This record gives sequence, C-alpha cells and structure tokens, in this order.
Amino acid sequence: MIKTKIMKINLKTPSKDRIKLAAGIIRNGKLVAFPTETVYGLGANALDAQAVRGIFKAKGRPCDNPIIVHIASEKQLSEVATETPIVAKKLIKKFWPGPLTLVLKKRKHVPYEVTGGLDTVAVRMPANKIALALIKGAGVPIAAPSANLSGKPSPTDAKHVFDDMNGRIDLIIDGGRTLIGVESTVLDLTTNPPRLLRPGKISLEELEQVIGPILTHIGEVEKARSPGMRYRHYAPKAKIIICKDIDNLKKKIKEFKKKKKKIAILKLDKNPEKIAKNLFGILREFDKKHIDVILCESLNKIKKKGIGLAVIDRLKRAASIT
Ligand code: TXA
Ligand code: MG
Repeated sequence: MIKTKIMKINLKTPSKDRIKLAAGIIRNGKLVAFPTETVYGLGANALDAQAVRGIFKAKGRPCDNPIIVHIASEKQLSEVATETPIVAKKLIKKFWPGPLTLVLKKRKHVPYEVTGGLDTVAVRMPANKIALALIKGAGVPIAAPSANLSGKPSPTDAKHVFDDMNGRIDLIIDGGRTLIGVESTVLDLTTNPPRLLRPGKISLEELEQVIGPILTHIGEVEKARSPGMRYRHYAPKAKIIICKDIDNLKKKIKEFKKKKKKIAILKLDKNPEKIAKNLFGILREFDKKHIDVILCESLNKIKKKGIGLAVIDRLKRAASIT
C-alpha cells in the first residue's frame, strides 16, 4: 500500500515550493490529486502511458473510458490536438480558463490509454490557480479524471479524495472546497454541428451564443464516442428515487418506513448553483450515515437551463434513470 500524503496549498497564493514538490511527483510518473474549479482531479503525465495506467488502477476505472487532458497554455493545446478549428478558437477565447472541455482530433503521441483508443482527445484549461501552477510546474499536460473511485460521486473536497484514494496514490493537494461542484461541460467539436456530450457549468445557451446550434441528443453512436456515458455515475450506495410530486414523496416515505429502511430526503434548493456546489458532498454524507433510500424531491423545481441542466443530469444518473 502506498502512503498517501495530504499537502495544503493556499488557493489564492499557492506556495512555489509545494507546487514544485507536487510537479516533481507528476514528472516521476506518479499520481497527484489536485483541486480544479469543478471537482478534484486525479492527475498523471498525459504523455506517459504507464503513469496514465496508474490512474485506471487507482480508480478502478473501465479502461475504455477516456480521460480529459488538462493544459495551462494554448501552446500545450497544439501539443495534444492536431488542429484548432475556428469554433474552438472562439470558445477558448470566451471560456478558457474555465469549466469547458473540448473534444478535438488527437495527435499521434497522445497515448491510447488517455483516449481509450479514440482518435480524439478531450482538453480543458482549468480556472484554478493551483491546477494551473501544477501543470506549468510539471511542464507536461496532465491527464485527470475526477479523483473518486469509479462509480462514486466526484470529490468536491480533499477529504472526499482521501476517503476514496488513501493508500492508492502518492499525494493529495488540499486546496479547499471546489467552487462549482459539478464536472465541466464536454463539447465534441469533431462533429458538425458540434455535440454536447455532458452538460456543466458553461450552459448550452452560452455556447450557442458563440458558435450557433449544438446537438444535444445522445444516441447509441454518440455513446460509443464518449464511453463515459455508458457507465453508472455519481452514485452513492443508497438507492435514489426521484419523486414525481409531494404526494408521491409522502407515499414513498410510508412505504420505506414500513420496510424499516433508513430514509433520507433530498430537498432541492431553489438556486441550482447551490445544488451543484453541495450535491456530491451530500450524497457522500448519506453513505457515511448508511442511508438505504434517498428520496429526492421533484426535479420540476429546477429550471431546465444554465447549470440546472447539469444538476438534473447528475441527479438522474445517480438514480440510474438515463
Ligand atoms: O470537471 C471536470 O471535467 C473534471 C475535472 C477533474 O477536470 N474531470 C472529469 O473527468 O470529470 P472524468 O474522467 O470524470 O469525465 C470525463 C468525461 C467522461 O465522460 C469521458 O467519457 C469524456 O469526458 N471524454 C474524455 N475523453 C473523451 C473523448 N476523447 N471523446 C469523448 N468523450 C471523452
Ligand atoms: Mg468522473
């Protein structure tokens, strides 16, 4: 078992020495968990196939599920992608650094392990000082999925990472709670029109304002293009049931009480940004309390726009109804 160290780094003024230490671990082919503005990532040198294999091992991740490459400059983009189409340039100008991942044609030297054998690579520039300093310090692009065990909710706090990764990785950088709480928006720019593969903080409306119409339907062909879609996600141990309305909720409470189940009720805030920020942490707390059934209020309350779409997506996935 590896001894996992936790190292605090101040988000506003990251210590150069500490970043140097973490960057050295990445350069040595090992794994470092680090904060981004969305969720914590589990990073390895994206150009080192063996290091990337370590990510799959630590997470128990299916090996055909590709990983996002994190970069700190546009120059690094050209190191991993063959071309930057005009639509990409426009989006980069407006949204990077930020929670938008772009799928582009990959360069040959990006390892098979990173892209799951696809001819595309997903890239993003995170808006988090620690993440950017780490990538710069390492001098290589960093491949990083969310730093949770496969199938568990993404970590929004260093404690969540420790719960899942203790004994599995060398270092966790503790940079406090993440700002957004749900993963980045993933947009495929290798199709015409572009296709939204995962909703996130950067909304469909914001993207369409910059580049025009975007497809959102995810059919079987697209699932093959983004294997992450096929897997159960964001799921706590408890069964999640999304209730249609208040009567349905009351009925379910009675039903599960009769069965002597330990129930939790998930009340949804009016503000979708707040739901996004707290959702994964709450699901993890329910697991710690050994809840059997999570009864979630009706999703009708959440507006189907902006980050609301991402929140609905994650809740439905957690309840396994997509
Ligand atoms: O906010 C985020 O995106 C976080 C932080 C750490 O950056 N990362 C993250 O990574 O959520 P992960 O691995 O949990 O999710 C990556 C998603 C998966 O659904 C995967 O299938 C998709 O991106 N993806 C990665 N590479 C792809 C590619 N070449 N083509 C299509 N989809 C891809
Ligand atoms: Mg993930």
